[in-house]
Amino acid sequence: MNKIISKQQLSDKIFLFEIEAPLVTKNCKAGNFVILRTSDKGTRFPLAITDFNKEKGTITVVAKKKSVATNKLCSLNEGENITDVVGPLGNPAKIENYGSVLCIGQGVHIATMLPILKELKNAGNKTTTLLLGCSQNCIILQDEVKKYSDNLIIVSKDGSCGIKGIPPEEVVKTINEVKPNHIFAAAKAHLMQKASETAMQINIPIDVCLNAIMVDGMGMCGACRLEIDGKTKFTCTDGPIFDGTKVNWQEVIQKNNAQEEAEKELLQKQYANPSDQEQKLEPYSVTMDVEPTKETFEELINRDSEWRKELRAKYKNPERTKMPRTPKPALDPEYRATTMTAEVIGSFTKEMAIKEAHRCLDCPNPQCMQGCPVHNNIPSFIKNIERGQFLAAMKVLRNTTNLPAICGRVCDQSKQCEGHCIHNKMKSQPVAIGMLERFVADYERETKNNKLITAPNNGIKIAAIGSGPASLCFAGDMAKAGFDVYVFEALHEIGGVLKYGIPEYRLPNRLVEAEIDRLKQAGVHFQTDCWIGKTLTFDDLKAQGFKGFFVGTGAGYSNFMHIPGENAIGVVSANEYLTKVNLLGAANNKTETPISHAKHVIVVGGGNTAMDSCRTAKRLGANVTVVYRRSEAEMPAGIEEVKEAKEEGVKFMNLHNPIKYLTDDNGKVKQAVLQVMELGEPDESGRRSPVPVEGKTVTIDADEVIVAVGVIPNNVVSRAIPGLELGRKDVIIVNENQQSNLSDVYAGGDITRGGATVVLAMRDGKLAAKNMIAQLQK
Ligand code: FES
Repeated sequence: MNKIISKQQLSDKIFLFEIEAPLVTKNCKAGNFVILRTSDKGTRFPLAITDFNKEKGTITVVAKKKSVATNKLCSLNEGENITDVVGPLGNPAKIENYGSVLCIGQGVHIATMLPILKELKNAGNKTTTLLLGCSQNCIILQDEVKKYSDNLIIVSKDGSCGIKGIPPEEVVKTINEVKPNHIFAAAKAHLMQKASETAMQINIPIDVCLNAIMVDGMGMCGACRLEIDGKTKFTCTDGPIFDGTKVNWQEVIQKNNAQEEAEKELLQKQYANPSDQEQKLEPYSVTMDVEPTKETFEELINRDSEWRKELRAKYKNPERTKMPRTPKPALDPEYRATTMTAEVIGSFTKEMAIKEAHRCLDCPNPQCMQGCPVHNNIPSFIKNIERGQFLAAMKVLRNTTNLPAICGRVCDQSKQCEGHCIHNKMKSQPVAIGMLERFVADYERETKNNKLITAPNNGIKIAAIGSGPASLCFAGDMAKAGFDVYVFEALHEIGGVLKYGIPEYRLPNRLVEAEIDRLKQAGVHFQTDCWIGKTLTFDDLKAQGFKGFFVGTGAGYSNFMHIPGENAIGVVSANEYLTKVNLLGAANNKTETPISHAKHVIVVGGGNTAMDSCRTAKRLGANVTVVYRRSEAEMPAGIEEVKEAKEEGVKFMNLHNPIKYLTDDNGKVKQAVLQVMELGEPDESGRRSPVPVEGKTVTIDADEVIVAVGVIPNNVVSRAIPGLELGRKDVIIVNENQQSNLSDVYAGGDITRGGATVVLAMRDGKLAAKNMIAQLQK
């Protein structure tokens, strides 16, 4: 929470706020911006930092009432709180002594220009400032601007202030008259375009500050991408300040128009909302039938213990093999395609769990354990379920996994434990290991037996950077051993990909919250809105006394295909789409985040993220087609995910790959041209490679395209750690102990692997904790 210290009305619609944000001021510079959120249901939106005061720990921002989000901010008063402020974001302005500079500011954008003007003046430049607006009312901060301007020109359209004039004409005139050595402009796009064209004609370098749609503001989603000098750049991380002569202005203007339209639509609240009437699966009863056993852990996993022998004797293996697999309780596909939050697959009841546990043969050499990336003792936990000792089963699981309720839901068991189950060899269906795993985890949580018991605090401060599955597991194991753990998260919520990436219908947020609460109760500290490398540097953390570091920042950058038309309005990354829906609740008309309700959606890709995207789009009412370049057999997505997507009505066009997107006159996508593919020889992934069929393409309608073709690590944190060794695509290189080349820095999860799975991230976090504990306790 960030308190509003003071509020000042600058015009009818424009307000200035001084906000408490001590962390933001620490490394703040002119040209940086912040992302704000005004309430729990609020969207994330950027505002330039107009001023900051390190001593007071405050920043100044200026907002204009023009969207639901800025209206909300402008309605807040002194003493009230803003839910989230994260920054400083973006690259600072390049300040040097150019000799003479011209600063151009228009309307509310004058607040963006002011800190740069100030620094340019302090750097010894002779400053001319041109302020523009419709009337006196919108030419803000004149006294402040005057202080840093050797020559101030004010132009209003109606003549109520300064000279009466038409802004674009005055811009051209002033540039030609002043002929400065350098220009900086913050204004509406068409005015910056005019300034840039004029500057280019007479060879004057010009920097412009671009406004773009932003979701995370951290390079994750690509919503802010624009074409600069023929290349795609992200405004939030590559900008927001660019060479004005290199900007594709038509694209900027079209995107600004589309954003304004979306905001207008949101203001009118015309959204269709998926059904609030939720069909619920019967919850299982949580009363305990069996007195919990007091056996030691060794007894719980001893295959030769008496109880286990008795269980095995109860049914012969052929009898167990013949027992049919217990079906998953699933919501009706037609209904579930209308609801965002109801979990598609429900939990087993106790009776169902015990029945399914009977099917496990308790193999002497269980292959399922080999298939599990963390080697859960699967037969032991299942046999404890079979005898009704659910908490004992959980104790067995807890030895190797921190997130069974989550892994039981999101792991692709068909390729892991269940894929190795002995039943497969006997042509019967594997034991439903994933369903049993989540059953005991849910049971433990619902019966409130999930408290994390920790050793006494040893006072050694440890930082976990990022708050996805790797960091949560690391934090839990370190806290358990008595360390003082702080988790730093750049976004406004803890959970990383578990929150922003995986939809609620597959992984309810309350389960992630339960895991976070468990860690909080164990004394783990969580700091949101703090991007290490931007808000705090690695040296800041060292100065605060941290002795060990774990980097689990995941793979947050979206991949794009770099094909013509990919920057069109309506072409979005899966990260953008899912973050808006999952993290910002965009599908719910009570929240402030706009999202398009397209009719014909194409999802490009064949992984689980593509499945999450297509099923989400279906739930928002679209006709959805997944376009994948190989055949279904090569799809990396879980078999169950594909099956469930098909049940919900998603269509698949396998062996097709987009090569270009066609747009309408407003720059909005309207069609996709798909190359027809066939399968060739296996490639390095072992799957048959997709080969284009010469000259064969099809064109299909699409008013939205969701690109889900993989992710790569976000390198801000890793690049902010001096001397850290990085590999290809900026993954952090670690040894078999998850330790980097720096002895006090460990890392795990997608930041070390590229894009991988939750269970592998969890494994890394646990391994890093084990080795860091050994190192620090030496
Ligand atoms: Fe820039 Fe998401 S807002 S990448």
